[in-house]
Amino acid sequence: MEVGVRRHRMHVLEQGSGVPILWIHGFPLSSEAFRPQLGMLGVRHIVPDLPGFGLSEEPSPETRLTIDNYASILVELLDDLSIPRVVAAGLSMGGYIALSMIRRHHDRIGGLILIDTRAEPDSTEARQSRLETIEQVEREGTGPLIASMLPRLITGLDENVLQHAENIMRTASRRGIIEASRAMADRPDATPELSSISVPTLVIVGERDEITPEANARKMADEIPGAELIVIPGAAHLSNLDNPAEFNAAVRHFLDTHRGVLPEERT
Ligand code: MLT
Repeated sequence: MEVGVRRHRMHVLEQGSGVPILWIHGFPLSSEAFRPQLGMLGVRHIVPDLPGFGLSEEPSPETRLTIDNYASILVELLDDLSIPRVVAAGLSMGGYIALSMIRRHHDRIGGLILIDTRAEPDSTEARQSRLETIEQVEREGTGPLIASMLPRLITGLDENVLQHAENIMRTASRRGIIEASRAMADRPDATPELSSISVPTLVIVGERDEITPEANARKMADEIPGAELIVIPGAAHLSNLDNPAEFNAAVRHFLDTHRGVLPEERT
């Protein structure tokens, strides 16, 4: 489905009915990264491509996006789809956006699934490395970034899954990557607000995630009242692609545990 948000064309996958889950993809991916989750029943899956990723139009050269802007764009998308409240499920960069949504639009969020993500901002070195990435992408395109990131995102034990992840990354536009890198480099520290989150929260992390390791996930889960942490065995950063069976079981358990409290659409 194509939706116009802020005069930009946004591509959104929609499937199923039940608990509305807004799946927010990581960097530099797209809605396609959540394919293994779309078969989960009892869920209305809403899976957008962020601006400049997948099939969504790229941001115009004069646009400057922040993590808060991405959050506002997604709230406008929910308005367009007439969905009052969702479970926000964000992977890595998507998690930064989900944390912004709960901070700035908490009336629209009835549950959180924080996947392979962290609440802390970038260190000085991480920020510097993003700025170097931006220069490299401007100079050489997206190829070198994809080649260096791919082995850190996924275990690569399954050649098809590795190829799927690479194909998704190849759909990201230069502008999409540049804007998202800048937005992540400038993102605020979300840790001070963790203790005031009052919706059911599941924190998921791949056992072999090197980008947002288990220690960060554990700290985040400890600070969010009532949050549950699930570690996905054998999975790297894209835990939902690396071990979809365990990942989907974790989400199913969360949905069953909080049935009646999470938002639900009845058809
Ligand atoms: C992601 O998967 O979205 C990125 O690795 C996040 C980041 O670079 O901080």
